[in-house]
Amino acid sequence: MNVYQVIKYDVESLIKDLAKHKNQPEYFYQIRELDRDKEKYSRLTQVEKASRIIYLNKTCYNGLFRVNRAGEFNAPFGKYRNPNIVNEITLRAVNNYFNKAKITFLNGDFEDVVKGIRKGSFVYFDPPYDPVSSSANFTGYDKGGFNRAEQERLKKLCDTLNNKGVKFLLSNSATDFIKHLYRDYRVEIIQAKRAINSKGELRGEVDEVLVRNFE
Ligand SMILES: C[S@@+](CC[C@H](N)C(=O)[O-])C[C@H]1O[C@@H](n2cnc3c(N)ncnc32)[C@H](O)[C@@H]1O
Repeated sequence: MNVYQVIKYDVESLIKDLAKHKNQPEYFYQIRELDRDKEKYSRLTQVEKASRIIYLNKTCYNGLFRVNRAGEFNAPFGKYRNPNIVNEITLRAVNNYFNKAKITFLNGDFEDVVKGIRKGSFVYFDPPYDPVSSSANFTGYDKGGFNRAEQERLKKLCDTLNNKGVKFLLSNSATDFIKHLYRDYRVEIIQAKRAINSKGELRGEVDEVLVRNFE
């Protein structure tokens, strides 16, 4: 959320700060460790925090966002030859879009975010993936995780939106559970490229579903 806010409100400072980073393992671990000391971390500016996350994303192994139980970033150094750490063109384009389209960012539970939504609106949901196998139990991007009860709660919300005349589109992995859960809607199976998987053989094309309640 902070990265989005900084791109919207202070993209030039962000671009400037990104330029300081080095693609070296010692430097990488030094930047990664910053969240170990809460006191020190809280003294970083919003721009420095956003710059750190973008740097780690561009230089860590497979661009994986992974944290330990304490919520500390723990993906290892990625050994890339020429990572695009300062992508000025894209950052400025996104900044321009966020401002021209008057985008607002909300950080909250999916039910709260769509409260008061009007008929005719469009919602896209990109929830945490339902795990494809029991070994692929990577269900959470944060400490909380997102279990099947959560997937069902989201489906109920989709029903509510559908009854209200709101269009929704949702993506997830193509598990039997998800296909069954959304059986009353249009379920399209697509091949999605996934660069992020801890197991190399599972990287590449993975079946996903696109669920929607409109033509
Ligand atoms: C597959 S990721 C979506 C990534 C996003 N589309 C992006 O490009 O950054 C799933 C997201 O759902 C968020 N999430 C988990 N539980 C949630 C909840 N109850 N309400 C809203 N978002 C939730 C996770 O924090 C994670 O960022």
